[in-house]
Amino acid sequence: MLGNSPTRYGTVAMTLHWLIALAVIAMLVIGKIMADLDNDDPNRFTLIQLHKSAGLTILFLTLLRIGWRLTNAVPPLPASLRTWERWAAHSTHFAFYALLLTIPLSGWTIASSSSSGIPTVWFGLFEVPNLPGMQDEPGRKDLHKQAEEMHELLGNLMILLLLLHVGAALKHHFWDRDNVLKRMLPFTRT
Ligand code: HEM
Repeated sequence: MLGNSPTRYGTVAMTLHWLIALAVIAMLVIGKIMADLDNDDPNRFTLIQLHKSAGLTILFLTLLRIGWRLTNAVPPLPASLRTWERWAAHSTHFAFYALLLTIPLSGWTIASSSSSGIPTVWFGLFEVPNLPGMQDEPGRKDLHKQAEEMHELLGNLMILLLLLHVGAALKHHFWDRDNVLKRMLPFTRT
């Protein structure tokens, strides 16, 4: 079923969830590797282009996902959940959407305010424009530095949130033995 049902997520929501999850984990790893490379390392340019292309794709998929979520009722959480657990689940999900928007946007700001003049070419296919006004002086250098700090900080927050989220999903599955994980897993019954 493409859409969500009252008991489980549909194909569209599940595909977007797992695609974005895998891409974000790969991006966190690539980002950390890239940041540790010397400026003259020949792999740096290729990795940064790959990182920028995949990151912009995540931004696009996140906008689709938010649109889908707003137009498709989400299956309600099990009635057995306590108030704090519901609050924790909703806050974590909101924080995920906020990070999925602000991490790519801060990355795009780094690329747009760079002095290198290297364009962002989406998987080698077409050039993605810089965000407007980000090459303007004075202030370009400060903006670039702040965006780099913000991108790193938000990436670290994403790692923490992922650990919390995976921990909560496993707790639901193995401890509470409810359907919370299963309803987001393909090829399972709830
Ligand atoms: C969900 C999407 C993204 C994630 C999870 C992510 C994650 C990261 C991480 C973890 C780093 C290393 C930070 C550090 O430790 O210093 C990084 C660096 C960077 N990211 Fe992203 N990023 C994303 C999207 C983007 C996008 C869309 C762009 C640009 C269009 C971008 C451009 C950059 C640049 C230019 C760097 C710095 C590379 C360097 O100079 O060393 N990122 N990213």
